[in-house]
Amino acid sequence: MSDIRSTYSDGLNFYGKHTPHELIQTYGTPLYVYNERVLRARCRDLKSLSTHPGFNVNYSVKANANPVLLRIIRDEGLVVDAMSPGELCLNLKAGFTPEEILYISNNNSREELQNALKHKLLISVDSLSQLDTLGSLAKGGRVMARFNPGIGAGHHSKVITAGKETKFGITPDKTEEVLALLKRHNLTLAGINQHIGSLFMQPQGYLDAAHVLLNLAEMLPENILKTLQIIDFGGGFGIPYHKYDGEPRLDLAELGRNLHEMISVWAAKTRYAGRFLIEPGRYIAAECGILLGSVHAVKNNGPTRYVGTDIGFNVLARPAMYDSFHDVEIYRMEKGGNSAETMEQTIVGNICESGDILAKKRLLPTVREGDALGILDAGAYGFSMSSTYNQRYRPAEVLIADNGVAGLIRRRETAEDLLRCLD
Ligand code: LLP
Repeated sequence: MSDIRSTYSDGLNFYGKHTPHELIQTYGTPLYVYNERVLRARCRDLKSLSTHPGFNVNYSVKANANPVLLRIIRDEGLVVDAMSPGELCLNLKAGFTPEEILYISNNNSREELQNALKHKLLISVDSLSQLDTLGSLAKGGRVMARFNPGIGAGHHSKVITAGKETKFGITPDKTEEVLALLKRHNLTLAGINQHIGSLFMQPQGYLDAAHVLLNLAEMLPENILKTLQIIDFGGGFGIPYHKYDGEPRLDLAELGRNLHEMISVWAAKTRYAGRFLIEPGRYIAAECGILLGSVHAVKNNGPTRYVGTDIGFNVLARPAMYDSFHDVEIYRMEKGGNSAETMEQTIVGNICESGDILAKKRLLPTVREGDALGILDAGAYGFSMSSTYNQRYRPAEVLIADNGVAGLIRRRETAEDLLRCLD
């Protein structure tokens, strides 16, 4: 085999004791491959942002909820959120205890809230009406409230979750009403949280929003501030998707210095002895995952050279949904072929929609039928957003353990899985 674009994964020894070729022979494609060493490194990056005793990382499970990965994340000392009964179920399966799970959700039915209460979870509500509903279900209990700090961020309008145009959070001008509902239902405000959006590469907006949340906490009546045990600043930490262009990383040293300073000074000033959380999903999970696919057809339609693969938007939705960029590696499964020759190519999937485009007009070494592709940074919002559209089976997942050996952590779906809920 002669890989013709693989310096990134080679540099990391991403596939451990295997080659993409072997993994494909054993498990088939499309195949999500995760690397334990990279996952652990990303957990440690964020755990070390602050040495404040109450600081921790609350991994946002929506990015990737495979229980094997969750167990590694727990082993690194992180806690998790859950936003649905399904995420809660997988968190429990991975061994997280109720104290290690925060229920951070929105627009829940009474049944969903009751389910979280039954598991003794602390629930964050993001509207007055949900606060009222929860209060009626859990009189005298504890609750968290999600605020909208008025500052949003994100790589696409669809993932900005604070500011003026979003469904999320309670705006700070409604604080009095929050207090009135707490009183009416005899609820203790155990925490406040926010999430400004997904993927920032500059620390300032996040720090500004953190500052707004701390100010808001400080404005709370003293007896309420006293009961606060959690202040959660949310996620959004970006990763560089343009790996082959050398895109710089988010400056975690600067972010950590500022965040640590901010929370330490504030805690000393207010005598707050509770926890400070950040809530990343993508930063933890994205870079530990490469999605392997096979090239089944290559053709020219007019001026465009199409590379036809088995990675449809049912397998990786991000490019079709947000025009997201994922870098592509090319592994030649047979010997030979000129790796120096490059040309503009558009990589597409096998779904019956013209929007099924994985990578548009990329200047890449010439891809041939029979090649395999590695889609980088696919560990977050990859499998977790996959579907069975066109009744294609969801892919398998493999973990390259610390010792370099691959193991299957989710089998590929089959026709039986499509039939499972029908009778
Ligand atoms: N906390 C809450 C309440 C969230 O809604 C999210 C993400 C996170 C934390 C984690 O955000 P992260 O650190 O991963 O940026 N599907 C999109 C991303 C949607 C994010 C939704 N909420 C994508 O593929 O880019």
